[in-house]
Amino acid sequence: MRTIAHVSDLHFGRLDAPVAERLVEDLRQQTPSLLVVSGDFTQRARRRQYAQAAAFLKRLPTPQILVPGNHDVPMYDVIRRFLLPLQRYQAYITPDLFPSYLDDEMFVLGINTARSFTQKSGWITEDQLAIVEQKMQAQAPGSMRVLVTHHPFIPPPRDPHGDILRGAAGALARLEQCGVDLLLAGHLHLAYHDDVRSRHKATRRSILSIQAGTATSTRRRGEPNAYNWITFSPDLVTVAVRAWDGREFTESLVTRYRRTDHIWSRESQLPVDTTVPRSPEKNQN
Ligand SMILES: [Fe+2]
Ligand SMILES: [Fe+2]
Repeated sequence: MRTIAHVSDLHFGRLDAPVAERLVEDLRQQTPSLLVVSGDFTQRARRRQYAQAAAFLKRLPTPQILVPGNHDVPMYDVIRRFLLPLQRYQAYITPDLFPSYLDDEMFVLGINTARSFTQKSGWITEDQLAIVEQKMQAQAPGSMRVLVTHHPFIPPPRDPHGDILRGAAGALARLEQCGVDLLLAGHLHLAYHDDVRSRHKATRRSILSIQAGTATSTRRRGEPNAYNWITFSPDLVTVAVRAWDGREFTESLVTRYRRTDHIWSRESQLPVDTTVPRSPEKNQN
């Protein structure tokens, strides 16, 4: 069995500081096999925001797999945006744009989906897909193969037109060939998950797509700050959403998926009411 603490959208620059402090405590009280942060470390990719994010990451459990988000590319500094889009990310967070983690039960690979040519959306390039294929195919059979991106492959149930990865269906045609089992993402500041085939009918392989809400940003989308605590063995995945209840992070929704005959099926879901009020604020995720 393995555990992944899946955190996303920290957004230093629009940080809820008390929530962030409590998040550190919550994560340090547990010992995940791996910590994943699926992008948007900063609000505007400023040096000070990156420095704060980097200091914060040093306080969190290791090992860590980190990928950038659209907010980690400078927006208003056009020269930097197009010529050096991830220079600060690589200087402060990690130089590695293909971070990976391997043990005898899982292989986790992260890739960048943020692009200079769009403020919000993202996609996977052909070169990236070729690298993902090569790395995934090299893994031993039976090992859980996990891909981390910032942009999600499926939209949230309440917003079918949500900003998902451009070309997601085409990318899935490649990812299913190399045996990807799980996809982890963030970006929409909503916690949700499902089989990718709920959206992409042409995809033949059952792949579970799991999104985390924003862990610490004040730009909430009607949900409390939260992160995912994911537990899995080869054919069983449990996603526990740990949400901010106004005082601390507590388990708010636990969903279990079982894979039978290569198909992930939702086996059970146990909701727990949370009481943080909706925020009317719009954002760019
Ligand atoms: Fe984002
Ligand atoms: Fe975000």
